[in-house]
Amino acid sequence: MRTSIAGTGSYLPDRVLTNADLEKMVDTTDEWILSRTGISERRIAAPEQATSDLAIEAGRMALEMAGLEGGEIDLIIVATLTPDYLFPSTAGLVQRALGAHRAAAFDLEAACTGFIYALAIGDLFVSSGKYSRVLVIGAEVLSRFLDWEDRNTCVLFGDGAGAAVLVPSEDGIRGIVSTHLHNDGRMAELLHAPAGGSRRPTDAEALAQKLYTVKMQGNEVFKIAVTKLSDVVDEILDANGLKEEDVDFLVPHQANLRIIKATARKLRLPMDKVIVTVDRHGNTSAASVPLALDEAVRSNRIRSGDTVLLEAFGGGLTWGGALVNW
Ligand code: COA
Repeated sequence: MRTSIAGTGSYLPDRVLTNADLEKMVDTTDEWILSRTGISERRIAAPEQATSDLAIEAGRMALEMAGLEGGEIDLIIVATLTPDYLFPSTAGLVQRALGAHRAAAFDLEAACTGFIYALAIGDLFVSSGKYSRVLVIGAEVLSRFLDWEDRNTCVLFGDGAGAAVLVPSEDGIRGIVSTHLHNDGRMAELLHAPAGGSRRPTDAEALAQKLYTVKMQGNEVFKIAVTKLSDVVDEILDANGLKEEDVDFLVPHQANLRIIKATARKLRLPMDKVIVTVDRHGNTSAASVPLALDEAVRSNRIRSGDTVLLEAFGGGLTWGGALVNW
């Protein structure tokens, strides 16, 4: 049985932080940020907003599009690396707010590839017949885990959430065709938060050194991202016996416009067939792919019958992709 996406949703906090704002905070320029990353602005959660608050709004919109009530949902998966609490799960908080009292709920951490992982797992639950209504969400409040004095990282990320409702495909044609997940733990420390976990609790010294914030060797990560995303595109095409021209839309992880353009070139796709939100959202980690997907669906760019390739890359290092017959 194939799994289709019955609804999508997204949420962005109101506050916009522009490159001009960042020029006043760190030694950077709009020109540097725009030319190296493609980012012009990003959203920042209000002080009272946590990841679940963003996830709940995106989840509500996705349920509405799918014509479902919270009480009809069987499972909620929230992909995030910035949960409200270490425990209980953010998914459990989303369950409570949506009145999804029947649903099982858990969080999944695969950094920026989190939504692709959540989609793959949700697909398995639906296609196996175990559950018929699964809500998958990618949500982050990364702004709480950035060093706002480190220009190497703070200009890159933003807050947001995106969601999708998975149901059994009615015609067996529309839906998720294949999913592809990867991880290479040998490069775990190229992109990580050194403190805040059991290896290094956030003690006074870790706090003073801001070790709970994102640390990244951007240049290394960039090179590996381009290679691995190229590999995963080949893998998706090969697995489904497709050629580049069979793909109608690319919904890439929104980390850097140069990485997105490299993947588009690989697929020989013109940029009007690539969904780009990085200019306005920055890198929202697990939220980036479902945010871009929701924007493309609601603006009628992606339509029924389109072949859509989703991909992402992030800490872990993780990477992966999915092919969807929309
Ligand atoms: N403003 C101005 N200068 C900056 C800067 C900023 N915000 N951030 C870094 N620089 C400087 C660096 O200090 C460096 O200066 P130096 O040459 O004097 O040492 C210079 O710019 C070049 O840095 P480099 O890291 O080589 O730039 P880059 O072209 O690789 O771009 C990234 C940096 C981070 C944009 C890029 O590496 C990237 O996008 N990496 C992948 C990020 C990613 O995808 N991460 C998440 C995966 S989910």
